[in-house]
Amino acid sequence: MSNIKHVAVIMDGNGRWAKRRFRPRVWGHVRGSSVVSDIVKAADDVGLKSLTLYAFSTENWSRPAEEVSTLFTILKKFLLKEKAKILANNIKFKVIGQIQNLPQATVSLIRDVEALTENATGLYLTFAFSYGGRAEILSSINHFIEKNPGQQITEKDLSAALYRPESGDVDLLIRTGGEQRISNFLLWQIAYAELYFSPTKWPDFTATEFKKIIDDVSIRERRFGNVCSQVGLEEATRQAASGKTTYLQGNTLNV
Ligand code: FPP
Repeated sequence: MSNIKHVAVIMDGNGRWAKRRFRPRVWGHVRGSSVVSDIVKAADDVGLKSLTLYAFSTENWSRPAEEVSTLFTILKKFLLKEKAKILANNIKFKVIGQIQNLPQATVSLIRDVEALTENATGLYLTFAFSYGGRAEILSSINHFIEKNPGQQITEKDLSAALYRPESGDVDLLIRTGGEQRISNFLLWQIAYAELYFSPTKWPDFTATEFKKIIDDVSIRERRFGNVCSQVGLEEATRQAASGKTTYLQGNTLNV
């Protein structure tokens, strides 16, 4: 059983993918939305607890109006098309972010799918839409202060006050498209996440690559700030002796 329970994905590279094909950027988003269905299914297949997808950041509002409204339309169409499948697969759906400025019909549809899946017990599927990590942290702190005036906030309190606390910390953050940035995504939740940057542009990303990344990362040793396990130390010492790898400092290995 994999130790990866929560995967978050920055779905990047749609615009470049389309440009390379002499198509408008929005073409890349349209193609990218069908990949979303494949990845949700793959996440369910491999038994993840949570999948969080970055579909639209607070910064994306400054893109051309046509691109912004196409992204709203894509979200709406996705939900209309996938609603039955989401329900059939016992998926618990939620959108995190400041969605009040989206078209009213889209907001209603989001609220409808959220309500219909409220008691689902399967995959927590989250779309981050009009989302920013710093805004989430600030809003969570302010929410806490409002409810607990004069009280100091702890890490546990803040984790519990996030937009979707039940998803938990991120174990693996994948970014497609070749860039190596976090872009204000789930800043609090990724504190100990493994990071994986794929050169594949999102419209070319597949369930096979997704599952392979999870498999590859599952065998990485996650130490959460601690020193490595004895087995890891012995193995690394052996590798160091063979001149292969790593960095030994006293009895602590920095790998
Ligand atoms: C980044 O690529 C991608 C986005 C800003 C939008 C991501 C949206 C989708 C994958 C489709 C939405 C799907 C649903 C179901 C909501 P970019 O445009 O920044 O690409 P670039 O870096 O190549 O310019």
